[in-house]
Amino acid sequence: MAFSFLKKNQTGSDETKSLPEVLPKHVAFIMDGNGRWAKKRGMPRKYGHREGAKTFHDITRYCRSIGIKNASFYVFSTENWKRPEEEIEAIMDLLWEYLNDCDEYLEQEVRMIFIGDKSRLPERIQNRMKELEEDSKKYDKMNLILAINYGGRDEIVYAARQLAEKAAKGELDPGEITEEMISDHLYTREIPDVDLMIRPSGELRLSNFLIWQCAYAEYYFTDVLWPDFARSELNKALNDFAGRGRRFGGI
Ligand code: FPP
Repeated sequence: MAFSFLKKNQTGSDETKSLPEVLPKHVAFIMDGNGRWAKKRGMPRKYGHREGAKTFHDITRYCRSIGIKNASFYVFSTENWKRPEEEIEAIMDLLWEYLNDCDEYLEQEVRMIFIGDKSRLPERIQNRMKELEEDSKKYDKMNLILAINYGGRDEIVYAARQLAEKAAKGELDPGEITEEMISDHLYTREIPDVDLMIRPSGELRLSNFLIWQCAYAEYYFTDVLWPDFARSELNKALNDFAGRGRRFGGI
């Protein structure tokens, strides 16, 4: 598949010139507002998700091209199963399409990591995820982390169970469990904590996304709906982040 984003950036487009020198190591995105975007146009919600998937594709390429090392996206939460079946099917279909169109990421040496409880997903999706994780695990230009059937509390339960099992076997003293050990048992064990969490669509909450990893994250909220979240919107968020004073509890 042909892609021009690197060339475009190497020639120094206006978009990249304004980027801050200090990039967050890990940017997380809550892709919110697809339904409202479609409703405003009198279209079904699934149309909004399709447009949202296009934005996702463009933003992932842009992250890769500007040198962001870890980019996480909230694709489907453990709570999203409450949505109408038709909408869930539409999201799973989009996901299936997307998972079969990832050559570009592999060519760009992007490592793909899927976080969440895979066991409830259709088998073909689970298998394809495993293949992509396997095929891309040698790459290190960017980690692209997709949260699918993911919940932050669910992830902490998953980590607690593993530690409890080790303690029950006598491999671990419960009194010696540290924050680092919990981090090492999360789905994101190889990924640094989130530096910048971006949520479009005017909602001001985390919705159970990477709650442990966001302990010291900076938050960026905008009213723009996800399908309209262009590269220039990400530049605004990155510039805003660059101007923040991070103290991590110090002074
Ligand atoms: C939240 O918007 C969005 C989702 C629950 C789904 C996100 C999915 C995509 C962007 C498309 C699939 C992605 C890939 C990787 C193929 P919402 O529907 O809750 O919007 P609303 O708040 O306006 O109703």
